[in-house]
Amino acid sequence: MKPPASINNEWYKDTIFYELRIRSFYDSNGDGIGDIKGLTQKLDYLQDLGVTTLWLLPFYPSPKKDDGYDIANYCAVDPEIGTLGDFKKFLTEAHRRGLRVVTELVLNHTSDQHPWFQRAQRAKAGSADRDFYVWSDTPNRYTEVRIIFNDTEKSNWTYDPVAKAYYWHRFFSHQPDLNFDNPKVQQALIHALDFWLALGVDGLRLDAVPYLYERDGTNCENLPETFAFLEKLRAHVDKKFPGRMLLAEANQWPDDTVRYLAGGNKCQMAFHFPIMPRLYMALAREDRFPIIDILSQTPPLPASCQWGIFLRNHDELTLEMVTEEERDEMWAFYAKDPRARINMGIRRRLAPLMENDRRKIELLNMLLFSLPGTPILYYGDEIGMGDNIKLSDRNGVRTPMQWNSDKNAGFSKAHTKRIYLPVIDDYTRINVEVEQNDSLSLLSWTKRVISLRKKHKVFGRGTCTFLEPENDKILAFIREYEDERILVVTNLSHNAQHVALDLSKYHELTPIELFGKTTFPIIGKTPFILTLGPYAVFWFSLEKSQPDTDSVTLPDFLKKSRWFGGKGRMIEQIQVSDNVVNVTYTEGPSERYFVPRILVKGEWVDAFQSPAFCRSLLKMTKAPIRASKIRLLESEQSNTSIIFDDCYILKVYRKLSEGKNLEKEIGLHLTQKMRFPNTPKVVGFIESNPMAILHEFIPNTKNGWELACEALQQGKKFLSEAKLLGKRTAELHIALSSDTKNKAFSPEPYGSLYQQSLYQTMRNQAGITFRQLRRGLSALPSDMLKLATKVLDSEQMLLARFSELRTLPLRSHRIQIHGDYHLGQVLYTGNDFMIIDFEGEPSRKSSTRTIKRSALYDVAGMLRSFHYAATSTLMKEEDAKKRTLLSTRAEIWYRTISREFLTAYINTAGNASFLPADPAEFRLLLNISLIEKALYEIGYEQNNRPSWLRIPLSGLIDILERDSP
Ligand code: GLC
Ligand code: CA
Repeated sequence: MKPPASINNEWYKDTIFYELRIRSFYDSNGDGIGDIKGLTQKLDYLQDLGVTTLWLLPFYPSPKKDDGYDIANYCAVDPEIGTLGDFKKFLTEAHRRGLRVVTELVLNHTSDQHPWFQRAQRAKAGSADRDFYVWSDTPNRYTEVRIIFNDTEKSNWTYDPVAKAYYWHRFFSHQPDLNFDNPKVQQALIHALDFWLALGVDGLRLDAVPYLYERDGTNCENLPETFAFLEKLRAHVDKKFPGRMLLAEANQWPDDTVRYLAGGNKCQMAFHFPIMPRLYMALAREDRFPIIDILSQTPPLPASCQWGIFLRNHDELTLEMVTEEERDEMWAFYAKDPRARINMGIRRRLAPLMENDRRKIELLNMLLFSLPGTPILYYGDEIGMGDNIKLSDRNGVRTPMQWNSDKNAGFSKAHTKRIYLPVIDDYTRINVEVEQNDSLSLLSWTKRVISLRKKHKVFGRGTCTFLEPENDKILAFIREYEDERILVVTNLSHNAQHVALDLSKYHELTPIELFGKTTFPIIGKTPFILTLGPYAVFWFSLEKSQPDTDSVTLPDFLKKSRWFGGKGRMIEQIQVSDNVVNVTYTEGPSERYFVPRILVKGEWVDAFQSPAFCRSLLKMTKAPIRASKIRLLESEQSNTSIIFDDCYILKVYRKLSEGKNLEKEIGLHLTQKMRFPNTPKVVGFIESNPMAILHEFIPNTKNGWELACEALQQGKKFLSEAKLLGKRTAELHIALSSDTKNKAFSPEPYGSLYQQSLYQTMRNQAGITFRQLRRGLSALPSDMLKLATKVLDSEQMLLARFSELRTLPLRSHRIQIHGDYHLGQVLYTGNDFMIIDFEGEPSRKSSTRTIKRSALYDVAGMLRSFHYAATSTLMKEEDAKKRTLLSTRAEIWYRTISREFLTAYINTAGNASFLPADPAEFRLLLNISLIEKALYEIGYEQNNRPSWLRIPLSGLIDILERDSP
């Protein structure tokens, strides 16, 4: 069993620990006790959470009077929770998921049930067996030594009636200390270490490591002998198991703790005990001093070493590393109820300590994830689990993990009475399942922080410099590593605060807030002013204002692709798996795109360039077709189409979506059911993502757009074409609305509710488009600025027009329409038009596209397209004189063919229910549709082709002018 593939010798610097108790995690066999198999079943959860190292509390045979830290056999598994075989399987499964595993090596003591102790009790005084432990005839030795479990123990010596002597113990009296002066003891423990590392465990937590030796006249902590032993242990590990890690549990002041890492030849990691209570203290006092003060007393570490930092763990929140006054202050603040106090600390979990205030929980977590060191999460704290101070010892923070709202919080199927510790009673509200389904839950938030943390090596490896703003309630520091710089600003106060930060060293850099990717004003030489809400935290990446453009990245590639619909949106994250790129934005829903690609000379190239790839797609449609000539359709926009032998065209959807494919449904309805002749036949499709439709290809055609532009350039009329187009459009609508038996294609009345919602939709769209337009004003050239201002000035008028949708009862029917109808969607065969592409506007969700609408929306689409053709032809003319001439001609052209098209449409539709009979209704629906189209175009052009923005702006003005009474 090997550790995860990459032997990265300093993996512990970039990892995220998750500390858990197997007995509390998940019970797979319903006996009321969590077990190894149960943990193995929950590995997917841990992987999804994003943690990368699991630290397992002791799981060895033990009387469990100290929750397993009282070991009775070092090289076996407690039968209550499984077998060694289960553990091996667990380890393989964890490693397969890239999770490392750290277990416990309890060096200092064993249980009094350990055979070594029982042998020692009976062995002759002075023999090697007896000397496995520390004996004395008097309890008056080592009197300077403190008592750690001072609530239960009165002395560190206990008299043993069998041995007729006192034995030494730093913890409970049932936990005799091993005697490290005896070489056999050292050998026995190295044997235990070999046993677990040989199985593949990635690291060991050395429990209670400061107390290994006893020497007269000292406090028996941090003795030179202990460091010598650790050097020996480390040399052994490096030789036999390179890459494995030793973590020191030394609850000491920084100067002493650092000695466990000194020289880089002892442990690689040590917990930073003193910082922990100070995080709570700083929050209670609303003052950054305790944190900065302790870190300034922390000596630098050898390059290969790392701190482990934590907020909570399986023990009490220890207050050993604070002053007496501070301990009183902390108890008074965080443990008013005396039952919450134990030994020198507080037995509570994070959420109750924070009074379940999400802002404070998040604040401490943000510090945990951004201060120097590797963060260690305690199981259950990611969901905000509570505690139970009525339970004995530290059991109140060791209760079963809360998975769902079922009996026993889904932890175990056993009868509730048989659960080893009672579940916390708020579990129906606080559990994994509930929180997984809630994007705003603490769990979801924790996942986001973890994933953000993992993206920036600087957090695990960077230097840390504290800023000293005048406002003491603000804790601000800068982490730096290679070319990454992150600024962390925290408001420790329950009130809003402002702060002026001296960032002059970083002037000309731009702070980008990491969660939302929001850009803040560029840093100047004067103080950087920030306002922070209560308990607010910011993580800013300080970036060079000019982004590097040397290498072609995936986002660049996406932005260059015409089918990418997210150009106007701020990308938060891009995840690639197989051929699918998942794009999350800072706002709004995420999108998935089908992006098969190959890397050629450092540049991403679309796999569609490869004929073999295209052929494999054709095969997937299951159509009995073989192709020899393959080409891509050049005018393609939102998708990619492949043409096979000029006979078939396969349209492959770039944007993946759930739900049914409307284009396929409509295609089958029109060609198979209605036998509508003016659309190409559907001959096959790929149903699941990627979705694709295979149609007959109509060769040697021009599309309506090319045809219209050509006519415009050559000064040709377009009358008969426009007339034919009007007729075919009406026929299409008839075909889409006359199968009254099929709910998907039968006409529906409007109703006042729908009218109201239509009004609201229009209003929203106008509001958003206007806002965007207003923001972009400064970037517009002067002539466009004039148009844009005029459009913006018309807002009230527009809203008034929309408002009629609420008052005029609509009598016509709404139907399934084409949805994205324009000149590019009709092919001219020489004497007729074929209508294609029933996908709808690409930016709309497929479920929205099935909502029936006014047929006049398609009509408006075509009219807008005529206007586009006329205006864009005009835009190409560089000569100003010619342009004026053209402009009059274009305008006449546009008006004439629009009239021709409309007349033919109305005549063909006759008394179809989708055609409003009342002229006022007709006018309202047509104009509203024209406005909606123009608004959509304005939004689109502003994001994608700013130089074209002129067309919809002038279009909208024209619509409004002609519409006015
Ligand atoms: C460590 C453990 C604690 C245990 C003690 C004695 O401090 O974290 O849980 O009680 O050692 O083994
Ligand atoms: Ca069990």
